[in-house]
Amino acid sequence: MTPALRTLEMKLLGLGFLGLAWSKDRLRGYATPNTVAKSDVEGQITYLLDVFASLRRFMPAEFDLRGRDVLELSPGASRGNGVLFLAMGARSYHAIDVFDLAGKEDPAFYQRLLDRFAEGSETDRTRARAIAANSGAREFGYAVGRDFDIPRLAEGRTFDLIVSCAAFEHYDSVPDAVAALTQVARPGCASVHIIDLQTHSRWIRENDPNNIYRYPEPLYRLFRFPGQPNRLRPADYVRAFSAEGWSDVRFVPSRTIDPSLRDVSLRGLATPFAGQQDMIVLDGALTARHPGRAG
Ligand SMILES: C[S@@+](CC[C@H](N)C(=O)[O-])C[C@H]1O[C@@H](n2cnc3c(N)ncnc32)[C@H](O)[C@@H]1O
Repeated sequence: MTPALRTLEMKLLGLGFLGLAWSKDRLRGYATPNTVAKSDVEGQITYLLDVFASLRRFMPAEFDLRGRDVLELSPGASRGNGVLFLAMGARSYHAIDVFDLAGKEDPAFYQRLLDRFAEGSETDRTRARAIAANSGAREFGYAVGRDFDIPRLAEGRTFDLIVSCAAFEHYDSVPDAVAALTQVARPGCASVHIIDLQTHSRWIRENDPNNIYRYPEPLYRLFRFPGQPNRLRPADYVRAFSAEGWSDVRFVPSRTIDPSLRDVSLRGLATPFAGQQDMIVLDGALTARHPGRAG
């Protein structure tokens, strides 16, 4: 097949996937935050341990979690990261989301997660188990609001560390979200956000990772639904954090498009994505530091 024909084929197939994602949202709402089935407990545990390891890898080298207050934005189906932060000595964990996907999580799950996590002191692990078993604990908070009003949903808390995974690419307005999270960041607060830049729908994601970037904005937005990937690129995220006064703002790529798919993935992209240097980046982490000395 010629490259031009393949591009046309992927554009047509991609339109089908955009329509499918839109219809799924209409029928079921926002229901599947990650690819692991909620019933697959072992799979969920492996996923969380993997996300937690990635978040830690991108945290500043000297950052000590002991006694820190942590905010996770958009945790999706589980507050498991929170239990792990507590086991590492964090004072508290609070999670904020637009969809109530973790509200009915079985506390027994947290105990199973901790069984698989060998780190943290015995005292911190015991404390984490006790806090996670008590659904009303303020040190293990969860607040949901369709307006995603972060300062209101923080309920008076401020934070030393703000994290998220596969969340920022879903935000309607990233500049607004960054301005809002800045209001609850303490001086010296660290921010670590893992961002998935590629196409989300399953089959097409593997075969044409840049598929969402093939369509002009009006056509892409025709299939808009709450949480549709916003198609922002690393430089947009760096700009949003820098504009709010964060320092050491970096986007560190994790994975890039497989060399065998590179040429076809860069061909036939819409303006403004065509020709951009970073279009081979699939995901990565945005890290930043709020100015001022940590308390
Ligand atoms: C792909 S899921 C990732 C969830 C979780 N962090 C994980 O790794 O499984 C995307 C998350 O973003 C949230 N989200 C979706 N659309 C949003 C929006 N427009 N504003 C704020 N959060 C949104 C969802 O509720 C969900 O928690």
